[in-house]
Amino acid sequence: MQVEDVTIGELAKHIPTPFYCYSAAAIASNYQRYSDAFAGLDSLICYAVKANSNQAILATLAQLGAGADTVSEGEIRRALAAGIKAEKIVFAGVGKSEQEIRYALSQGILQFNVESEPELERISALAVQMNTTARISIRVNPDVEAKTHAKITTGLAENKFGINIDLAPQLYIKAASLPGIEVTGVDVHIGSQLINLEPFAAAFAKVAELVSSLKAQGITIKIIDIGGGLGINYGEHSDEPDIRTYAEHAKQHLGHLGCKIIVEPGRSMVGNAGVLVSKVEYVKTGQERTFLILDAAMNDLIRPSMYDAYHHIATVEQKPNQAVYDIVGPVCETGDTFAKSRALGECEQGDLVAIMGAGAYGAVMASHYNSRLNAPEVLVSGKQYSIIRERISFDTLLAMDTLPAWL
Ligand code: LLP
Repeated sequence: MQVEDVTIGELAKHIPTPFYCYSAAAIASNYQRYSDAFAGLDSLICYAVKANSNQAILATLAQLGAGADTVSEGEIRRALAAGIKAEKIVFAGVGKSEQEIRYALSQGILQFNVESEPELERISALAVQMNTTARISIRVNPDVEAKTHAKITTGLAENKFGINIDLAPQLYIKAASLPGIEVTGVDVHIGSQLINLEPFAAAFAKVAELVSSLKAQGITIKIIDIGGGLGINYGEHSDEPDIRTYAEHAKQHLGHLGCKIIVEPGRSMVGNAGVLVSKVEYVKTGQERTFLILDAAMNDLIRPSMYDAYHHIATVEQKPNQAVYDIVGPVCETGDTFAKSRALGECEQGDLVAIMGAGAYGAVMASHYNSRLNAPEVLVSGKQYSIIRERISFDTLLAMDTLPAWL
């Protein structure tokens, strides 16, 4: 198995498993697909940093011209450090703190995607204090069923995100009257890992109606941020949504409004550009099932435990025979399971396996649970590779805690 011109088996000779390995070319090609698909529109691709916030990934995207969709001061700092200009950074999230808002204002980011009335008031007050004006979009909740996993759906009335679209005009009128606020846009994001494009179309249509009705009330919208959410194929279905068709929906519903379109892809930019490489520690034959016990665990990649997510898993070397395994990690929880009853090349101790589709929401959601060290991250470009995050040492891990004086 290769990532670009680098053999994974070769990499594993230098870097102890488990480790993440990403392809810069795959990321560039995903970016290119977005930029081609949205070419007919005045658009800005703001990569959703939360999907993979490694600065090497951000710098790769910055060089291609990407902006950033961020949700914390930490993400804004990472984006800026990686060379993404403030005027291409949007800041979302339901719980922006005073400190975060001040920081974003001090950097002059493109816009805040506002999620509530008290947040709007807070941003205005802080902007006035700082003698500046905050550009804002209001994130509207279109009450559209995204048909994805309940934990990652965001556009339903019952979700904590955004302002009910029917109540948005009132809030826009208020926003326009606030001294520290400049209304620039509308924002919508209905969920993640959407395979069916219809919910996007439904949300775009509702946003178009809102923009027209705001115009009639004297509020001009210049930016429409359509969020992210396009799904990828994790290996369980073969129909991956097409970015061009997605962009067509945006053009059809929003193209006539003369607005700049921001799109915030995360998963579809980096998900299929990364694998988690792991080693078989043991093949354990239980009474009912055979377990493949890996050296990677739920602390490295939590998606299967958290969302019952499917990730294709393959042996790094081709195997002559197939076997069926429960593929698990060493963490002391039954939930530390990557796959159940999964057919795979027959393995023995020491074999390498690759968990696919691990470029998004993998390393960023990792923890040190069970006092395990982090899986390092490696970026490949052609024949070159570079470790873009080291595995920390046990000394560093232990030094994270400090003992109180009385002990
Ligand atoms: N914009 C906003 C406002 C978001 O909340 C998100 C993701 C995105 C853009 C990017 O969505 P994407 O294109 O990646 O679908 N940890 C979960 C996914 C959580 C997504 C949260 N918001 C997972 O592993 O499936």
